[in-house]
Amino acid sequence: MKILLKSRSPSDTIRIGNRIGNLLLLGDIVALVGELGAGKTQLIKGLAAGAGVRKTTYVSSPSFTLINEYAGRVPFYHIDLFRLGSEKEAEELGLEEYLQGRGVTAIEWADKIPSLLPKELLWIEIRNTGRKTRSLEITGKGERYLNLVDQIQSSEFGVGSSETRRRGSRLPTIC
Ligand SMILES: Nc1ncnc2c1ncn2[C@@H]1O[C@H](COP(=O)(O)OP(=O)(O)O)[C@@H](O)[C@H]1O
Ligand SMILES: [Mg+2]
Repeated sequence: MKILLKSRSPSDTIRIGNRIGNLLLLGDIVALVGELGAGKTQLIKGLAAGAGVRKTTYVSSPSFTLINEYAGRVPFYHIDLFRLGSEKEAEELGLEEYLQGRGVTAIEWADKIPSLLPKELLWIEIRNTGRKTRSLEITGKGERYLNLVDQIQSSEFGVGSSETRRRGSRLPTIC
């Protein structure tokens, strides 16, 4: 099961993330893939907000920290593997622990650790389709995530832009 969503702006991407984040449950893993500047971190801002992370809990830039933990409805882990050298390094860092359902875990550059990823997860590929436009291809792997993709598809109907603006002011700062 796969859906393709179009984003027309960074705030649109955050809005999509927010909607998905609302649906996330303890133990969920979201893998994000896409080139530098694709919008993975923007999407995670939305995921975190949707998972109940408040703006005031912002910690530090994940460029220097591989794993950031935020308090949301459930613990929210933001993992950024941009600077990861190898899968072995990920093992040494104890990354596997975070892939075992301690909270909601969102992983940027998830394709860097193919053998460490669980088989079941939500896989999101972001592609740059223009200066302000992006495509988001969302695939569910495993029963839970097939279900989730179904729910995401339903939640994408009837989106109100005024709601997006109201929510925008409460978004966490993750960069
Ligand atoms: N539709 C869009 N969705 C997300 N980001 C966008 C979009 N259009 C332009 N951008 C810009 O692209 C950049 C994405 O950055 P970021 O989310 O940090 O990417 P990544 O984490 O994938 O490297 C930001 O500067 C953002 O303003
Ligand atoms: Mg990023």
